[in-house]
Amino acid sequence: MKNIPLVNVKVQFAQIQAEAEKQVLEILRTGAYILGQHNKAFETELAEYVGAQYAIPVKSGTDALLVALRAAGIQPGDEVITTPFTFIATAEAIRYLGATPVFVDIEPDSYCIDVAQIEQKITSKTKAILPVHLFGHAADVGAIDAIAQKHNLLVIGDACQSIGTEYQGRPIGGLCAAECYSFYPTKNLGGCGEGGAVTTNDPEFADRVRILRAHGMRETYKHETIGYNMRLDEIQCAILRLKLPKLRGWTRRRQEIAGIYTAAFQSVPGLQTPAVQAYSNHIYHQYTLLAENRTALQKYLKDSGVGTAVHYPIPLNLQPAFADLQQGPGSFPVAESVAAKIFSIPVYPELTDEDIAYIVEKVKTGAQLS
Ligand SMILES: Cc1ncc(COP(=O)(O)O)c(C=O)c1O
Repeated sequence: MKNIPLVNVKVQFAQIQAEAEKQVLEILRTGAYILGQHNKAFETELAEYVGAQYAIPVKSGTDALLVALRAAGIQPGDEVITTPFTFIATAEAIRYLGATPVFVDIEPDSYCIDVAQIEQKITSKTKAILPVHLFGHAADVGAIDAIAQKHNLLVIGDACQSIGTEYQGRPIGGLCAAECYSFYPTKNLGGCGEGGAVTTNDPEFADRVRILRAHGMRETYKHETIGYNMRLDEIQCAILRLKLPKLRGWTRRRQEIAGIYTAAFQSVPGLQTPAVQAYSNHIYHQYTLLAENRTALQKYLKDSGVGTAVHYPIPLNLQPAFADLQQGPGSFPVAESVAAKIFSIPVYPELTDEDIAYIVEKVKTGAQLS
């Protein structure tokens, strides 16, 4: 029996190990641990990769969301429209600022926010829309931007799962007021610890983020505002810089694997493969399936040595953390129905052709179980 975990960060590290060990030692010896040459170079390289003028590394994707919302002027009492079908950090960041997440249901195929339902949730308190580019697929940012312009709202994107995602052929990093990225180790571009970044085309927005991430400080010990300590350390920046040049190739391999999966599963009864809308590419941070018999299928895959996980089993409106919003079962029927069926299978670029064939065979067999 094979043993194929859902993710495997160790096999990726092996590809940069020699250079990484050399560079980490060098950093340790120089003593320049924070905001040094690697941070500066990573800013430029990342901005170019995601199609933005500016990229400001921070300590996590959660920090990126928090500091971007703060730079956008979100305050206590404001409302921010977002999706309930995401990792909790998206809505946590809104809450950190004393604002209220206002959930809008998702589309049944892209699993991103349903643009057609946004306008009915806009009130006099709405200040921003926070779409999530989920699993590596873009939200419909063109349509979202049109609504935002009409109602004078900012759009801050959660691209934590979507480095390299394109909307209508353009990388999403510079399309909204800001995009927020995560470099959590299992992300398509993952560090050896926590990491994240805010990207934008707006120099003033970039400036606000830069100041906020370092205690509201432009000049040493002169504090313009109450900020945060969100600086990404040199070791993380160095590791991410070593991986970034490989990311396009890794993404192509993910897309190749996803193509094999979709061709194999699209006509299997009881399975629904992930859709790719005409306006988006897909970088497959996760390859997700909807399965009518998810519990039995996941158990069969586990017993066959194939790792799976559910992203996400409980929409945010049903989490105790958001109980005060009083949006119980039935509030977001699409998100709730997708959450009951969705699961992810391994799609990391280092999977061998043999691994892929094994996964295909096991998923097809398991889909027939009841
Ligand atoms: C959609 C989404 N938003 C936000 C985050 C938060 O990123 P981090 O874990 O780097 O704080 C993640 C990653 O876990 C995510 O997947």
